[in-house]
Amino acid sequence: MLENILKISPIVPVVTIKKVEDAVPIAKALLAGGIGVIEITLRTDAALKAIADVSKNVSGMTVGAGTISNPEQFKQATDAGAKFIVTPGLTTKLAQFAQTQKTAFLPGVATISEIMHARENGFSYLKFFPASLAGGAPAIKQFTSLFSDIQFCPTGGVNLENMNEYFSISKVVCIGGSWITPDSLIGTKNWSEIERLSAEAISKVKR
Ligand code: 3PG
Repeated sequence: MLENILKISPIVPVVTIKKVEDAVPIAKALLAGGIGVIEITLRTDAALKAIADVSKNVSGMTVGAGTISNPEQFKQATDAGAKFIVTPGLTTKLAQFAQTQKTAFLPGVATISEIMHARENGFSYLKFFPASLAGGAPAIKQFTSLFSDIQFCPTGGVNLENMNEYFSISKVVCIGGSWITPDSLIGTKNWSEIERLSAEAISKVKR
């Protein structure tokens, strides 16, 4: 269930993996740093195999798939082992498909009309993306005053410096971000620094 998955960790690392062999060490480093959830984006050829490898080989890590934009990708990701699906936005096709699936689904929204569309389709946990460009924490405060039944996971421009602006809002269930697993650290296989950044991020969360 999505609610339980989003409660595993206040921070959901959004990870783009170019080389399949990096997936398991990245997931292990996140876990060692105290983060038990990972969103692997479907932006590379390695993504589906990376999801499968992490889900088979890293016990204690809950793996999800991000950047899903159609039902075919949704199915490929769940077949690979993804326990949750994240989308940058929501289409009618995706909404209808997600309703037929058991896999937890976190659709993206950026505007009030998009929130209304997602809500009409029965989704009450929404990714707010791209958060910093779409109004940041003040926008979420406005949204929650209109729709008190919706919980948000802001992502896009969220980082160590500004995450607590989001966590100060009670309807922010988690935040997503890529700063813990930047290309520069993955490229140099610096797993210990990824572990350190994970632990640092978790230790600075104020809710
Ligand atoms: C995402 O897909 O959720 C974003 O690319 C993550 O945004 P960030 O790189 O600004 O953290």
